[in-house]
Amino acid sequence: MYIEKISLLNFKNYSELELSFSKEINLLAGLNGSGKTNLLDAIYCLCLTKSFLGMNDQQMIHTNQGYFSALGWFKENSKEYKLQYDFDGKKKNFTVDKKPYHKLSEHIGKFPAIVLTPHDTDLIRNGSEDRRRFFDSLFSQADPIYLEALIRYTHFIKQRNALLKLAAEGRFIDRILMDAYDHNLMQSGTIIAQKRASYLQRLLPIFQEYYSLLSPEYENTHIEYETKVLDPNFEKIYQDSYSKDLILQRTNKGVHKDDFKFIINSEAIKQYGSQGQQKTFVIALKLAQYELLKACTGHAPILLMDDIFDKLDDIRIEKLIALVQKHVHGQLFISDARPDRSSIFFKSNSKDFRMFIIDQGSISLSNLPSSTS
Ligand SMILES: Nc1ncnc2c1ncn2[C@@H]1O[C@H](COP(=O)(O)OP(=O)(O)O)[C@@H](O)[C@H]1O
Ligand SMILES: [Mg+2]
Repeated sequence: MYIEKISLLNFKNYSELELSFSKEINLLAGLNGSGKTNLLDAIYCLCLTKSFLGMNDQQMIHTNQGYFSALGWFKENSKEYKLQYDFDGKKKNFTVDKKPYHKLSEHIGKFPAIVLTPHDTDLIRNGSEDRRRFFDSLFSQADPIYLEALIRYTHFIKQRNALLKLAAEGRFIDRILMDAYDHNLMQSGTIIAQKRASYLQRLLPIFQEYYSLLSPEYENTHIEYETKVLDPNFEKIYQDSYSKDLILQRTNKGVHKDDFKFIINSEAIKQYGSQGQQKTFVIALKLAQYELLKACTGHAPILLMDDIFDKLDDIRIEKLIALVQKHVHGQLFISDARPDRSSIFFKSNSKDFRMFIIDQGSISLSNLPSSTS
């Protein structure tokens, strides 16, 4: 699956843009602030219905305009799909071949995309919420049942917390309603925990292989899934927490409290990993995500590598390029403020590539000779 063409109107710093891509390698070159990340985000928005930068629809409208529109022509096995994402200042409109979804979440996993950014190491440094969000996004793209359970779980946590709040205000608690929430949380929470555990088992060997290919030295890596939900006594743990839940007015036990522990040489990488090790860790994780998504969805995801070479040393860059060349067979986008460095990608490479020069929201195709010619 790949994106053939994009058309943007009033999307972030692009007032108007039309661009055709290579189905293999696309290099976006341009100074800082020129719009490389915004273009990658537009592609991500079409694949996943939202920005990877966490921007809302209003923020994505070009300054002083009232709407934006992003259109993408995607192709798979000679079948074409026209994806459209519009926002008119009030309403978001997302369609595939002009047809809207009943639920937007149905789009997730059909056009998989993965983004690698220099901020990925936040995943190590930040709190457990970020790691859950990362794995939730991965498993949701891989498995619609996971996504459905997650939506249900999030809904019932909100409902239950609202009920706890009412109780704390001294209002009557509807026990039947509370039991129904508990039942739903137990059911969807168990699905989530079981799938988190089993997908992690599939991800782990790929991740470990990639880490060892990227790292200059031998290091032992591991990811541990921490949950109480798979404890045989979880139902009791959950019920025992009820009085605490009432005091704090929120649910304290469940998969929304899970964490994933990132380990290197038997220690937490957060405390003991060097910057280089941390970067390698998240890059290996993202590329393992690529493999898992490809296997689960049957589509090679679009890989968006945003400024990833920045702050990587030359040895790691070389190893990363070798790994990507060997394992990534789908469409690839790379943004780089210093294209001289990334041009290494298409020297000695028989793949089709295009290089785009971005300058303040306008783009031209570079006439660099293609390696295939
Ligand atoms: N809604 C918007 N309207 C106009 N410009 C925007 C909007 N959102 C972001 N930008 C501009 O886009 C630029 C950043 O683009 P970005 O893609 O991050 O650049 P790069 O990745 O090439 O460094 C900034 O100058 C920012 O002000
Ligand atoms: Mg950028």
